[in-house]
Amino acid sequence: MATIFSTCYLFLPMILSLFPTTLCATVVEDLKNLHQPPGFNSTILSNCLKNPSLRYCSSSPIMDFDEIFKFTIVASHLCNESKNPNCVESFPKVDLRNRPNIAPLYLSFDFFWKYCPFTIMSIDLSNNSIKGGFPTDVFFCTQIHSLDLSINAFSGDIPIQSFSSFTNLTFLNLSYNYFSESKLSDSQFFKRFNSSSFLHSGALLDQKRFTVKAVVLLVCFPILVIFLVICLVWLCFQRPDFLPSKLQRGRRFTPAILKAATDGFSKKYLVGMSDVVHIYKGILRDGTEVKIEMYWDDIPRDSYRRFVDECEVLSKLHHKNLVRVLGWCKSRKFRAIITEWTREENVEMWLSGSGSPWKHRVKVLMGVVECMRYMQKEWPEIDYELDTSSILLSDKMEPLISRFKVGDHNRNQRKIHRFGIFLLEMILNKKVEEELDGGDAGFIRNMRNLNHGDLQQMIDERMEVTETNFEQVKQALSLGLMCIDESISEKPSLGMILNSVARAYKTSLVLPSANHRTFKGHMPLQTN
Ligand SMILES: *[C@@H]1O[C@H](CO)[C@@H](O)[C@H](O)[C@H]1NC(C)=O
Ligand SMILES: *[C@@H]1O[C@H](CO)[C@@H](O)[C@H](O)[C@H]1NC(C)=O
Ligand SMILES: *[C@@H]1O[C@H](CO)[C@@H](O)[C@H](O)[C@H]1NC(C)=O
Ligand SMILES: *[C@@H]1O[C@H](CO)[C@@H](O)[C@H](O)[C@H]1NC(C)=O
Ligand SMILES: *[C@@H]1O[C@H](CO)[C@@H](O)[C@H](O)[C@H]1NC(C)=O
Ligand SMILES: *[C@@H]1O[C@H](CO)[C@@H](O)[C@H](O)[C@H]1NC(C)=O
Repeated sequence: MATIFSTCYLFLPMILSLFPTTLCATVVEDLKNLHQPPGFNSTILSNCLKNPSLRYCSSSPIMDFDEIFKFTIVASHLCNESKNPNCVESFPKVDLRNRPNIAPLYLSFDFFWKYCPFTIMSIDLSNNSIKGGFPTDVFFCTQIHSLDLSINAFSGDIPIQSFSSFTNLTFLNLSYNYFSESKLSDSQFFKRFNSSSFLHSGALLDQKRFTVKAVVLLVCFPILVIFLVICLVWLCFQRPDFLPSKLQRGRRFTPAILKAATDGFSKKYLVGMSDVVHIYKGILRDGTEVKIEMYWDDIPRDSYRRFVDECEVLSKLHHKNLVRVLGWCKSRKFRAIITEWTREENVEMWLSGSGSPWKHRVKVLMGVVECMRYMQKEWPEIDYELDTSSILLSDKMEPLISRFKVGDHNRNQRKIHRFGIFLLEMILNKKVEEELDGGDAGFIRNMRNLNHGDLQQMIDERMEVTETNFEQVKQALSLGLMCIDESISEKPSLGMILNSVARAYKTSLVLPSANHRTFKGHMPLQTN
Protein backbone atom coordinates (compact mmCIF):
# COMPACT_ATOMS: atom_id res chain seq x y z
CA MET A 1 0.00 0.00 0.00
CA ALA A 2 2.72 2.41 0.91
CA THR A 3 4.31 2.24 -2.55
CA ILE A 4 1.02 2.98 -4.22
CA PHE A 5 0.62 6.00 -2.00
CA SER A 6 4.03 7.20 -2.75
CA THR A 7 3.58 6.99 -6.52
CA CYS A 8 0.15 8.48 -6.27
CA TYR A 9 0.38 11.33 -3.86
CA LEU A 10 3.73 11.71 -2.34
CA PHE A 11 4.67 14.65 -4.41
CA LEU A 12 5.44 16.97 -1.58
CA PRO A 13 7.27 15.08 1.11
CA MET A 14 5.79 17.31 3.76
CA ILE A 15 2.24 16.20 3.08
CA LEU A 16 3.08 12.61 2.38
CA SER A 17 1.69 11.56 5.69
CA LEU A 18 -1.61 13.33 5.10
CA PHE A 19 -3.04 10.65 2.78
CA PRO A 20 -3.16 7.57 4.92
CA THR A 21 -5.81 5.36 3.42
CA THR A 22 -6.67 6.49 -0.07
CA LEU A 23 -6.39 4.19 -3.05
CA CYS A 24 -4.94 5.38 -6.29
CA ALA A 25 -7.61 6.58 -8.69
CA THR A 26 -7.87 8.98 -11.62
CA VAL A 27 -7.19 12.62 -10.96
CA VAL A 28 -10.86 13.50 -11.50
CA GLU A 29 -12.04 10.92 -8.99
CA ASP A 30 -9.45 12.02 -6.47
CA LEU A 31 -10.42 15.67 -6.84
CA LYS A 32 -13.98 14.66 -6.10
CA ASN A 33 -13.46 12.20 -3.28
CA LEU A 34 -10.42 13.22 -1.30
CA HIS A 35 -10.79 15.57 1.63
CA GLN A 36 -8.25 17.56 3.53
CA PRO A 37 -6.66 15.39 6.19
CA PRO A 38 -6.49 16.89 9.65
CA GLY A 39 -3.54 19.16 10.13
CA PHE A 40 -3.27 19.95 6.42
CA ASN A 41 -3.55 23.66 7.01
CA SER A 42 -0.86 23.75 9.60
CA THR A 43 1.44 21.53 7.51
CA ILE A 44 1.15 23.95 4.60
CA LEU A 45 1.83 26.87 6.91
CA SER A 46 4.87 25.19 8.35
CA ASN A 47 6.06 24.37 4.80
CA CYS A 48 5.91 28.04 4.01
CA LEU A 49 7.87 28.91 7.13
CA LYS A 50 10.61 26.52 6.04
CA ASN A 51 10.52 27.42 2.34
CA PRO A 52 8.80 30.74 1.80
CA SER A 53 9.63 30.73 -1.93
CA LEU A 54 6.95 28.10 -2.66
CA ARG A 55 4.41 29.67 -5.02
CA TYR A 56 1.38 28.93 -2.87
CA CYS A 57 2.97 30.63 0.06
CA SER A 58 2.76 33.97 -1.64
CA SER A 59 -0.93 33.56 -2.53
CA SER A 60 -1.80 36.25 0.01
CA PRO A 61 -3.67 37.91 1.49
CA ILE A 62 -5.59 34.80 2.53
CA MET A 63 -4.31 31.36 1.60
CA ASP A 64 -7.02 29.25 0.05
CA PHE A 65 -6.24 25.90 1.67
CA ASP A 66 -8.99 24.17 -0.27
CA GLU A 67 -7.42 25.18 -3.55
CA ILE A 68 -3.94 24.37 -2.38
CA PHE A 69 -5.17 20.90 -1.41
CA LYS A 70 -6.59 20.33 -4.91
CA PHE A 71 -3.31 21.59 -6.34
CA THR A 72 -1.36 18.95 -4.45
CA ILE A 73 -3.64 16.21 -5.81
CA VAL A 74 -3.22 17.38 -9.46
CA ALA A 75 0.49 17.97 -9.01
CA SER A 76 1.11 14.47 -7.74
CA HIS A 77 -0.92 12.92 -10.59
CA LEU A 78 0.69 15.09 -13.27
CA CYS A 79 4.16 14.39 -11.93
CA ASN A 80 3.51 10.64 -12.22
CA GLU A 81 1.92 10.99 -15.69
CA SER A 82 4.97 12.92 -16.81
CA LYS A 83 7.18 10.01 -15.80
CA ASN A 84 9.32 12.10 -13.60
CA PRO A 85 11.79 9.72 -12.00
CA ASN A 86 11.12 10.56 -8.35
CA CYS A 87 7.98 12.50 -7.80
CA VAL A 88 8.53 12.67 -4.09
CA GLU A 89 11.79 14.51 -4.53
CA SER A 90 11.28 16.47 -7.70
CA PHE A 91 8.96 17.48 -10.50
CA PRO A 92 11.26 18.87 -13.23
CA LYS A 93 9.04 18.48 -16.32
CA VAL A 94 5.45 18.41 -17.49
CA ASP A 95 5.63 15.84 -20.24
CA LEU A 96 2.29 15.33 -21.90
CA ARG A 97 3.68 14.69 -25.34
CA ASN A 98 1.46 12.40 -27.46
CA ARG A 99 -1.21 12.27 -24.70
CA PRO A 100 -4.26 13.73 -26.46
CA ASN A 101 -6.61 12.05 -23.97
CA ILE A 102 -5.31 13.71 -20.83
CA ALA A 103 -3.34 16.77 -21.94
CA PRO A 104 -6.39 19.06 -22.37
CA LEU A 105 -7.68 17.94 -18.97
CA TYR A 106 -4.47 18.89 -17.15
CA LEU A 107 -4.33 22.12 -19.06
CA SER A 108 -7.78 22.96 -17.72
CA PHE A 109 -6.80 22.76 -14.04
CA ASP A 110 -6.13 26.45 -13.68
CA PHE A 111 -5.50 26.11 -9.87
CA PHE A 112 -2.57 23.83 -10.67
CA TRP A 113 -0.96 26.33 -13.08
CA LYS A 114 -1.61 29.15 -10.63
CA TYR A 115 0.69 27.43 -8.10
CA CYS A 116 3.03 26.05 -10.78
CA PRO A 117 5.82 24.29 -8.85
CA PHE A 118 9.17 26.05 -9.11
CA THR A 119 10.86 22.74 -9.87
CA ILE A 120 9.26 22.47 -13.33
CA MET A 121 11.77 23.46 -16.01
CA SER A 122 10.17 22.04 -19.08
CA ILE A 123 6.61 21.85 -20.42
CA ASP A 124 5.86 19.65 -23.39
CA LEU A 125 2.28 19.54 -24.65
CA SER A 126 3.13 18.67 -28.25
CA ASN A 127 1.20 16.40 -30.61
CA ASN A 128 -2.14 16.48 -28.77
CA SER A 129 -4.50 18.21 -31.21
CA ILE A 130 -5.48 20.64 -28.45
CA LYS A 131 -7.93 23.26 -29.68
CA GLY A 132 -8.55 26.79 -28.45
CA GLY A 133 -6.58 29.92 -27.83
CA PHE A 134 -3.00 30.08 -26.63
CA PRO A 135 -2.81 28.28 -23.19
CA THR A 136 -2.01 31.41 -21.22
CA ASP A 137 -1.90 29.51 -17.88
CA VAL A 138 1.63 28.32 -18.74
CA PHE A 139 2.78 31.91 -18.19
CA PHE A 140 2.46 31.26 -14.43
CA CYS A 141 5.47 28.97 -14.78
CA THR A 142 7.83 31.87 -15.37
CA GLN A 143 10.92 29.83 -14.54
CA ILE A 144 10.74 27.28 -17.38
CA HIS A 145 13.57 26.83 -19.90
CA SER A 146 11.62 24.90 -22.49
CA LEU A 147 8.10 25.11 -23.90
CA ASP A 148 6.81 22.87 -26.66
CA LEU A 149 3.27 23.43 -27.96
CA SER A 150 3.94 22.04 -31.44
CA ILE A 151 1.54 19.85 -33.41
CA ASN A 152 -1.71 21.04 -31.87
CA ALA A 153 -4.63 23.04 -33.08
CA PHE A 154 -4.07 26.25 -31.12
CA SER A 155 -5.43 29.33 -32.83
CA GLY A 156 -5.79 33.06 -32.29
CA ASP A 157 -3.14 35.58 -31.40
CA ILE A 158 0.14 34.68 -29.74
CA PRO A 159 0.34 36.83 -26.55
CA ILE A 160 3.68 38.33 -27.48
CA GLN A 161 3.84 40.66 -24.47
CA SER A 162 3.35 37.86 -21.92
CA PHE A 163 6.32 35.92 -23.29
CA SER A 164 8.66 38.48 -21.79
CA SER A 165 7.99 36.89 -18.36
CA PHE A 166 9.83 33.76 -19.63
CA THR A 167 13.23 35.31 -18.97
CA ASN A 168 15.04 31.92 -18.90
CA LEU A 169 13.26 30.31 -21.88
CA THR A 170 15.79 28.87 -24.30
CA PHE A 171 13.69 26.35 -26.21
CA LEU A 172 10.36 27.18 -27.80
CA ASN A 173 8.36 25.25 -30.36
CA LEU A 174 5.03 26.60 -31.62
CA SER A 175 5.22 24.79 -34.97
CA TYR A 176 2.19 23.23 -36.62
CA ASN A 177 -0.62 25.27 -35.15
CA TYR A 178 -3.15 27.73 -36.50
CA PHE A 179 -2.09 30.95 -34.81
CA SER A 180 -2.84 34.26 -36.44
CA GLU A 181 -0.03 35.98 -38.21
CA SER A 182 1.93 37.98 -35.61
CA LYS A 183 4.65 40.57 -35.72
CA LEU A 184 7.08 38.33 -33.80
CA SER A 185 10.08 39.90 -35.50
CA ASP A 186 9.23 43.24 -33.87
CA SER A 187 9.72 41.74 -30.39
CA GLN A 188 13.20 41.56 -28.91
CA PHE A 189 12.22 38.38 -27.03
CA PHE A 190 11.60 36.22 -30.12
CA LYS A 191 14.98 37.10 -31.62
CA ARG A 192 16.51 34.24 -29.66
CA PHE A 193 14.50 31.67 -31.65
CA ASN A 194 14.81 30.95 -35.30
CA SER A 195 12.12 30.05 -37.79
CA SER A 196 12.24 26.32 -36.92
CA SER A 197 10.32 27.23 -33.74
CA PHE A 198 7.43 28.56 -35.83
CA LEU A 199 7.19 26.13 -38.75
CA HIS A 200 3.64 26.18 -40.11
CA SER A 201 2.49 27.84 -36.92
CA GLY A 202 0.55 30.48 -38.82
CA ALA A 203 2.46 33.12 -36.87
CA LEU A 204 5.09 33.72 -39.51
CA LEU A 205 4.50 34.58 -43.09
CA ASP A 206 4.19 31.21 -44.75
CA GLN A 207 6.53 31.11 -47.71
CA LYS A 208 4.27 28.79 -49.66
CA ARG A 209 1.17 30.82 -48.95
CA PHE A 210 3.13 33.97 -49.60
CA THR A 211 4.16 32.56 -52.96
CA VAL A 212 0.56 31.67 -53.73
CA LYS A 213 -0.55 35.16 -52.75
CA ALA A 214 2.22 36.69 -54.79
CA VAL A 215 1.25 34.59 -57.79
CA VAL A 216 -2.36 35.60 -57.36
CA LEU A 217 -1.35 39.21 -57.12
CA LEU A 218 1.17 39.16 -59.89
CA VAL A 219 -0.78 37.03 -62.34
CA CYS A 220 -4.46 37.19 -61.53
CA PHE A 221 -4.60 40.84 -60.68
CA PRO A 222 -3.12 42.03 -63.98
CA ILE A 223 -5.39 39.58 -65.79
CA LEU A 224 -8.37 40.99 -63.94
CA VAL A 225 -7.30 44.53 -64.72
CA ILE A 226 -6.78 43.68 -68.38
CA PHE A 227 -10.16 41.97 -68.45
CA LEU A 228 -11.83 45.02 -66.89
CA VAL A 229 -10.08 47.34 -69.28
CA ILE A 230 -11.19 45.21 -72.20
CA CYS A 231 -14.75 45.27 -70.89
CA LEU A 232 -14.62 49.00 -70.44
CA VAL A 233 -13.16 49.56 -73.87
CA TRP A 234 -15.75 47.24 -75.37
CA LEU A 235 -18.50 49.15 -73.60
CA CYS A 236 -17.06 52.48 -74.69
CA PHE A 237 -16.93 51.45 -78.30
CA GLN A 238 -19.90 49.15 -78.56
CA ARG A 239 -22.46 49.94 -75.90
CA PRO A 240 -21.67 53.29 -74.26
CA ASP A 241 -25.32 53.34 -73.13
CA PHE A 242 -24.39 50.67 -70.57
CA LEU A 243 -21.81 52.92 -68.94
CA PRO A 244 -22.81 54.92 -65.86
CA SER A 245 -24.28 58.19 -67.06
CA LYS A 246 -21.32 60.11 -65.64
CA LEU A 247 -18.96 58.27 -67.96
CA GLN A 248 -21.08 58.78 -71.04
CA ARG A 249 -19.90 61.72 -73.04
CA GLY A 250 -23.10 63.05 -74.52
CA ARG A 251 -25.22 60.61 -76.42
CA ARG A 252 -23.15 58.42 -78.63
CA PHE A 253 -24.74 55.88 -80.91
CA THR A 254 -23.01 52.76 -82.08
CA PRO A 255 -24.28 50.09 -84.47
CA ALA A 256 -24.71 47.81 -81.44
CA ILE A 257 -26.94 50.35 -79.70
CA LEU A 258 -29.11 50.81 -82.80
CA LYS A 259 -29.32 47.06 -83.23
CA ALA A 260 -30.48 46.68 -79.64
CA ALA A 261 -32.93 49.57 -79.95
CA THR A 262 -34.61 47.96 -82.95
CA ASP A 263 -34.38 44.35 -81.83
CA GLY A 264 -31.81 43.59 -84.49
CA PHE A 265 -33.36 45.91 -87.12
CA SER A 266 -36.49 43.81 -87.04
CA LYS A 267 -39.42 44.50 -89.33
CA LYS A 268 -41.56 45.23 -86.31
CA TYR A 269 -39.68 48.48 -85.81
CA LEU A 270 -39.46 49.47 -89.47
CA VAL A 271 -41.76 52.41 -90.13
CA GLY A 272 -40.71 53.42 -93.60
CA MET A 273 -38.26 52.52 -96.32
CA SER A 274 -36.96 53.35 -99.72
CA ASP A 275 -34.01 52.10 -101.76
CA VAL A 276 -31.44 53.89 -99.69
CA VAL A 277 -33.09 54.78 -96.43
CA HIS A 278 -34.75 52.66 -93.81
CA ILE A 279 -36.60 54.44 -91.06
CA TYR A 280 -36.97 52.67 -87.73
CA LYS A 281 -38.69 53.53 -84.53
CA GLY A 282 -36.18 52.54 -81.89
CA ILE A 283 -36.39 52.29 -78.13
CA LEU A 284 -33.20 53.14 -76.27
CA ARG A 285 -32.11 51.50 -73.02
CA ASP A 286 -33.56 54.34 -70.95
CA GLY A 287 -36.90 53.97 -72.71
CA THR A 288 -36.58 56.99 -74.98
CA GLU A 289 -38.29 56.52 -78.31
CA VAL A 290 -36.22 57.66 -81.26
CA LYS A 291 -36.44 57.79 -84.99
CA ILE A 292 -33.53 56.16 -86.74
CA GLU A 293 -32.95 57.03 -90.37
CA MET A 294 -30.49 54.55 -91.80
CA TYR A 295 -28.83 55.15 -95.13
CA TRP A 296 -27.50 52.04 -96.79
CA ASP A 297 -25.87 53.91 -99.63
CA ASP A 298 -22.22 53.64 -100.41
CA ILE A 299 -20.73 57.07 -100.16
CA PRO A 300 -17.11 58.08 -100.53
CA ARG A 301 -14.91 58.70 -97.53
CA ASP A 302 -14.96 62.50 -97.66
CA SER A 303 -18.73 62.49 -97.84
CA TYR A 304 -18.69 60.47 -94.64
CA ARG A 305 -16.60 63.16 -93.03
CA ARG A 306 -19.09 65.77 -94.19
CA PHE A 307 -21.96 63.69 -92.88
CA VAL A 308 -20.38 63.57 -89.44
CA ASP A 309 -19.60 67.28 -89.46
CA GLU A 310 -23.17 68.05 -90.39
CA CYS A 311 -24.56 65.78 -87.73
CA GLU A 312 -22.28 67.39 -85.18
CA VAL A 313 -23.71 70.80 -86.02
CA LEU A 314 -27.30 69.61 -86.17
CA SER A 315 -27.09 67.95 -82.78
CA LYS A 316 -26.35 71.37 -81.30
CA LEU A 317 -29.63 72.88 -82.49
CA HIS A 318 -32.05 73.44 -79.69
CA HIS A 319 -35.49 74.91 -80.16
CA LYS A 320 -38.97 73.81 -79.27
CA ASN A 321 -39.96 73.98 -82.92
CA LEU A 322 -37.10 71.89 -84.23
CA VAL A 323 -36.99 68.14 -84.33
CA ARG A 324 -34.11 67.33 -82.02
CA VAL A 325 -31.17 65.59 -83.58
CA LEU A 326 -29.93 63.24 -80.86
CA GLY A 327 -26.94 61.85 -82.64
CA TRP A 328 -25.59 59.85 -85.47
CA CYS A 329 -23.85 56.65 -86.17
CA LYS A 330 -21.67 55.41 -88.92
CA SER A 331 -20.37 52.01 -89.74
CA ARG A 332 -18.90 50.38 -92.80
CA LYS A 333 -22.34 49.35 -93.99
CA PHE A 334 -24.55 52.31 -93.18
CA ARG A 335 -24.81 55.72 -91.69
CA ALA A 336 -27.69 56.75 -89.51
CA ILE A 337 -29.08 59.88 -88.00
CA ILE A 338 -31.08 59.60 -84.83
CA THR A 339 -33.74 62.15 -83.99
CA GLU A 340 -36.40 62.43 -81.35
CA TRP A 341 -39.53 60.46 -82.07
CA THR A 342 -42.43 62.64 -83.19
CA ARG A 343 -45.93 62.03 -84.36
CA GLU A 344 -46.10 61.07 -87.98
CA GLU A 345 -48.50 63.88 -88.86
CA ASN A 346 -47.21 66.79 -90.93
CA VAL A 347 -48.92 70.11 -91.60
CA GLU A 348 -50.13 69.01 -95.02
CA MET A 349 -51.94 66.02 -93.55
CA TRP A 350 -53.26 68.18 -90.76
CA LEU A 351 -54.68 70.78 -93.14
CA SER A 352 -56.29 68.23 -95.41
CA GLY A 353 -57.66 66.34 -92.45
CA SER A 354 -60.53 67.48 -90.33
CA GLY A 355 -59.53 71.09 -90.89
CA SER A 356 -58.41 73.36 -88.13
CA PRO A 357 -59.49 76.77 -86.87
CA TRP A 358 -57.60 79.94 -87.61
CA LYS A 359 -56.48 80.07 -84.00
CA HIS A 360 -54.51 76.83 -84.33
CA ARG A 361 -53.08 77.85 -87.67
CA VAL A 362 -51.78 81.09 -86.20
CA LYS A 363 -50.13 79.07 -83.44
CA VAL A 364 -48.36 76.94 -86.00
CA LEU A 365 -47.28 80.04 -87.93
CA MET A 366 -46.00 81.57 -84.71
CA GLY A 367 -43.90 78.51 -83.93
CA VAL A 368 -42.44 78.44 -87.43
CA VAL A 369 -41.52 82.12 -87.36
CA GLU A 370 -39.98 81.84 -83.89
CA CYS A 371 -37.89 78.95 -85.08
CA MET A 372 -36.84 80.87 -88.21
CA ARG A 373 -35.79 83.71 -85.97
CA TYR A 374 -33.72 81.37 -83.76
CA MET A 375 -32.04 79.85 -86.79
CA GLN A 376 -31.28 83.24 -88.27
CA LYS A 377 -29.69 84.42 -85.06
CA GLU A 378 -27.84 81.28 -83.99
CA TRP A 379 -27.33 79.14 -87.06
CA PRO A 380 -27.46 81.27 -90.22
CA GLU A 381 -25.45 78.63 -92.09
CA ILE A 382 -28.17 76.02 -91.74
CA ASP A 383 -30.96 75.82 -94.26
CA TYR A 384 -34.25 74.09 -93.60
CA GLU A 385 -37.33 73.13 -95.51
CA LEU A 386 -40.54 75.01 -94.96
CA ASP A 387 -43.10 73.17 -97.05
CA THR A 388 -46.20 71.82 -95.40
CA SER A 389 -45.10 68.22 -95.87
CA SER A 390 -41.80 68.58 -94.04
CA ILE A 391 -43.11 70.45 -91.02
CA LEU A 392 -44.36 67.99 -88.46
CA LEU A 393 -46.75 68.58 -85.60
CA SER A 394 -46.10 67.67 -82.01
CA ASP A 395 -48.72 66.40 -79.59
CA LYS A 396 -49.09 69.95 -78.33
CA MET A 397 -49.82 71.25 -81.84
CA GLU A 398 -46.38 72.79 -82.05
CA PRO A 399 -44.86 72.79 -85.52
CA LEU A 400 -41.54 70.97 -85.80
CA ILE A 401 -39.13 71.81 -88.58
CA SER A 402 -37.62 68.49 -89.49
CA ARG A 403 -35.37 68.80 -92.54
CA PHE A 404 -32.10 70.67 -92.46
CA LYS A 405 -29.12 71.21 -94.60
CA VAL A 406 -25.82 72.52 -93.33
CA GLY A 407 -23.78 75.02 -95.32
CA ASP A 408 -26.28 77.36 -96.87
CA HIS A 409 -25.19 80.84 -96.03
CA ASN A 410 -27.33 83.94 -95.99
CA ARG A 411 -30.22 82.89 -98.16
CA ASN A 412 -32.64 84.92 -96.14
CA GLN A 413 -34.50 86.15 -99.17
CA ARG A 414 -35.26 82.59 -100.21
CA LYS A 415 -36.33 81.62 -96.73
CA ILE A 416 -38.75 84.56 -96.62
CA HIS A 417 -40.10 83.53 -99.99
CA ARG A 418 -40.67 79.97 -98.83
CA PHE A 419 -42.30 81.19 -95.65
CA GLY A 420 -44.63 83.28 -97.83
CA ILE A 421 -45.70 80.17 -99.72
CA PHE A 422 -46.14 78.26 -96.48
CA LEU A 423 -48.27 81.08 -95.08
CA LEU A 424 -50.44 81.23 -98.17
CA GLU A 425 -50.92 77.47 -98.18
CA MET A 426 -51.98 77.62 -94.56
CA ILE A 427 -54.72 80.08 -95.47
CA LEU A 428 -55.77 78.95 -98.92
CA ASN A 429 -55.36 75.22 -98.37
CA LYS A 430 -54.04 74.63 -101.82
CA LYS A 431 -50.69 74.01 -103.34
CA VAL A 432 -49.60 77.59 -104.03
CA GLU A 433 -46.30 76.32 -105.37
CA GLU A 434 -48.11 74.70 -108.29
CA GLU A 435 -50.04 77.88 -109.05
CA LEU A 436 -46.85 79.86 -109.08
CA ASP A 437 -45.51 77.76 -111.91
CA GLY A 438 -47.24 80.11 -114.30
CA GLY A 439 -45.39 83.10 -112.84
CA ASP A 440 -45.66 84.82 -109.50
CA ALA A 441 -46.67 88.18 -110.86
CA GLY A 442 -49.94 87.01 -112.33
CA PHE A 443 -50.94 85.10 -109.23
CA ILE A 444 -50.08 87.95 -106.95
CA ARG A 445 -51.97 90.45 -109.08
CA ASN A 446 -55.01 88.19 -109.15
CA MET A 447 -54.95 87.74 -105.41
CA ARG A 448 -54.56 91.41 -104.73
CA ASN A 449 -57.51 92.29 -106.97
CA LEU A 450 -59.95 89.89 -105.36
CA ASN A 451 -63.00 91.54 -103.85
CA HIS A 452 -64.32 90.70 -100.42
CA GLY A 453 -66.66 87.98 -101.64
CA ASP A 454 -64.10 86.25 -103.83
CA LEU A 455 -61.59 86.39 -101.03
CA GLN A 456 -63.98 84.61 -98.73
CA GLN A 457 -64.39 82.01 -101.44
CA MET A 458 -60.65 81.58 -101.72
CA ILE A 459 -59.77 81.06 -98.08
CA ASP A 460 -60.24 77.71 -96.48
CA GLU A 461 -63.73 77.76 -95.03
CA ARG A 462 -62.82 75.19 -92.39
CA MET A 463 -60.87 77.86 -90.59
CA GLU A 464 -64.18 79.06 -89.17
CA VAL A 465 -63.29 82.65 -90.02
CA THR A 466 -65.51 85.08 -88.23
CA GLU A 467 -65.93 88.77 -88.91
CA THR A 468 -63.53 89.61 -86.11
CA ASN A 469 -60.63 87.62 -87.43
CA PHE A 470 -61.32 88.04 -91.12
CA GLU A 471 -59.24 91.21 -90.99
CA GLN A 472 -56.38 89.21 -89.53
CA VAL A 473 -56.63 86.61 -92.26
CA LYS A 474 -56.60 89.35 -94.84
CA GLN A 475 -53.53 90.93 -93.29
CA ALA A 476 -51.80 87.56 -93.16
CA LEU A 477 -52.66 86.98 -96.80
CA SER A 478 -51.14 90.27 -97.85
CA LEU A 479 -48.05 89.51 -95.75
CA GLY A 480 -47.72 86.21 -97.57
CA LEU A 481 -48.06 87.92 -100.93
CA MET A 482 -45.40 90.45 -99.95
CA CYS A 483 -43.06 87.63 -99.08
CA ILE A 484 -43.32 86.02 -102.50
CA ASP A 485 -43.51 89.20 -104.56
CA GLU A 486 -40.32 89.38 -106.57
CA SER A 487 -41.24 92.77 -107.96
CA ILE A 488 -40.84 94.69 -104.72
CA SER A 489 -37.24 95.47 -103.90
CA GLU A 490 -37.55 95.39 -100.15
CA LYS A 491 -39.11 92.17 -98.86
CA PRO A 492 -40.49 92.15 -95.35
CA SER A 493 -37.80 91.33 -92.80
CA LEU A 494 -38.06 88.36 -90.49
CA GLY A 495 -38.43 90.80 -87.59
CA MET A 496 -41.41 92.41 -89.23
CA ILE A 497 -42.98 89.05 -90.04
CA LEU A 498 -42.45 88.00 -86.43
CA ASN A 499 -44.20 91.15 -85.20
CA SER A 500 -47.25 90.70 -87.41
CA VAL A 501 -47.62 87.02 -86.67
CA ALA A 502 -47.11 87.61 -82.95
CA ARG A 503 -49.79 90.29 -83.00
CA ALA A 504 -52.22 87.95 -84.74
CA TYR A 505 -51.30 85.17 -82.34
CA LYS A 506 -51.91 87.32 -79.26
CA THR A 507 -55.25 88.51 -80.61
CA SER A 508 -56.26 84.94 -81.44
CA LEU A 509 -55.62 83.99 -77.84
CA VAL A 510 -57.94 86.74 -76.59
CA LEU A 511 -60.65 86.41 -79.23
CA PRO A 512 -63.39 84.04 -78.27
CA SER A 513 -63.85 81.12 -80.58
CA ALA A 514 -67.20 80.46 -82.23
CA ASN A 515 -68.09 77.88 -79.59
CA HIS A 516 -67.08 80.14 -76.81
CA ARG A 517 -69.39 82.88 -78.03
CA THR A 518 -72.50 80.66 -78.03
CA PHE A 519 -71.54 79.44 -74.61
CA LYS A 520 -71.35 82.99 -73.32
CA GLY A 521 -74.91 83.65 -74.55
CA HIS A 522 -76.23 81.17 -72.03
CA MET A 523 -74.51 82.84 -69.13
CA PRO A 524 -76.64 85.92 -68.33
CA LEU A 525 -74.60 86.77 -65.28
CA GLN A 526 -71.58 87.49 -67.41
CA THR A 527 -73.24 89.61 -70.04
CA ASN A 528 -73.25 93.20 -69.00
C1 LIG B 1 1.98 6.45 -12.46
O1 LIG B 1 2.45 6.31 -13.77
C2 LIG B 1 2.49 5.00 -14.29
C3 LIG B 1 3.00 5.05 -15.68
O2 LIG B 1 3.98 6.02 -15.78
C4 LIG B 1 1.12 4.36 -14.21
O3 LIG B 1 1.18 3.04 -14.64
C5 LIG B 1 0.54 4.45 -12.85
O4 LIG B 1 -0.77 3.98 -12.82
C6 LIG B 1 0.58 5.86 -12.36
N1 LIG B 1 0.10 5.90 -10.97
C7 LIG B 1 -0.86 6.70 -10.59
C8 LIG B 1 -1.21 6.59 -9.18
O5 LIG B 1 -1.44 7.48 -11.35
C1 LIG C 1 -8.27 24.72 6.76
O1 LIG C 1 -8.69 26.02 6.42
C2 LIG C 1 -9.96 26.09 5.77
C3 LIG C 1 -10.19 27.52 5.39
O2 LIG C 1 -9.20 27.95 4.53
C4 LIG C 1 -11.05 25.54 6.65
O3 LIG C 1 -12.29 25.55 5.96
C5 LIG C 1 -10.69 24.14 7.06
O4 LIG C 1 -11.62 23.64 7.98
C6 LIG C 1 -9.28 24.07 7.69
N1 LIG C 1 -8.93 22.70 7.91
C7 LIG C 1 -8.45 22.30 9.03
C8 LIG C 1 -8.16 20.84 9.14
O5 LIG C 1 -8.24 23.05 9.96
C1 LIG D 1 1.72 12.04 -32.61
O1 LIG D 1 0.89 11.14 -31.95
C2 LIG D 1 0.43 10.07 -32.73
C3 LIG D 1 -0.49 9.23 -31.88
O2 LIG D 1 -1.38 10.03 -31.22
C4 LIG D 1 1.59 9.26 -33.26
O3 LIG D 1 1.14 8.22 -34.10
C5 LIG D 1 2.54 10.14 -34.02
O4 LIG D 1 3.69 9.45 -34.42
C6 LIG D 1 2.94 11.32 -33.15
N1 LIG D 1 3.73 12.24 -33.93
C7 LIG D 1 4.88 12.74 -33.48
C8 LIG D 1 5.59 13.67 -34.39
O5 LIG D 1 5.33 12.44 -32.40
C1 LIG E 1 16.32 32.48 -14.39
O1 LIG E 1 17.47 31.81 -13.95
C2 LIG E 1 18.21 32.54 -12.99
C3 LIG E 1 19.48 31.75 -12.72
O2 LIG E 1 19.28 30.39 -12.70
C4 LIG E 1 17.38 32.72 -11.73
O3 LIG E 1 18.06 33.46 -10.78
C5 LIG E 1 16.10 33.45 -12.10
O4 LIG E 1 15.26 33.57 -10.99
C6 LIG E 1 15.39 32.73 -13.20
N1 LIG E 1 14.24 33.51 -13.63
C7 LIG E 1 13.01 33.16 -13.40
C8 LIG E 1 11.95 34.07 -13.89
O5 LIG E 1 12.71 32.12 -12.82
C1 LIG F 1 17.67 27.01 -35.22
O1 LIG F 1 18.27 26.97 -33.96
C2 LIG F 1 18.60 25.64 -33.52
C3 LIG F 1 19.16 25.77 -32.13
O2 LIG F 1 18.30 26.45 -31.28
C4 LIG F 1 19.56 25.00 -34.49
O3 LIG F 1 19.82 23.68 -34.08
C5 LIG F 1 18.99 25.01 -35.86
O4 LIG F 1 19.91 24.52 -36.81
C6 LIG F 1 18.57 26.39 -36.26
N1 LIG F 1 17.87 26.32 -37.53
C7 LIG F 1 18.01 27.23 -38.45
C8 LIG F 1 17.21 27.03 -39.68
O5 LIG F 1 18.75 28.21 -38.29
C1 LIG G 1 9.32 21.91 -33.66
O1 LIG G 1 8.54 20.80 -33.97
C2 LIG G 1 8.52 20.44 -35.31
C3 LIG G 1 7.59 19.26 -35.45
O2 LIG G 1 7.85 18.24 -34.57
C4 LIG G 1 9.92 20.12 -35.79
O3 LIG G 1 9.91 19.82 -37.15
C5 LIG G 1 10.82 21.27 -35.52
O4 LIG G 1 12.15 20.96 -35.84
C6 LIG G 1 10.73 21.67 -34.08
N1 LIG G 1 11.51 22.87 -33.87
C7 LIG G 1 12.50 22.93 -32.98
C8 LIG G 1 13.16 24.27 -32.82
O5 LIG G 1 12.83 21.96 -32.31
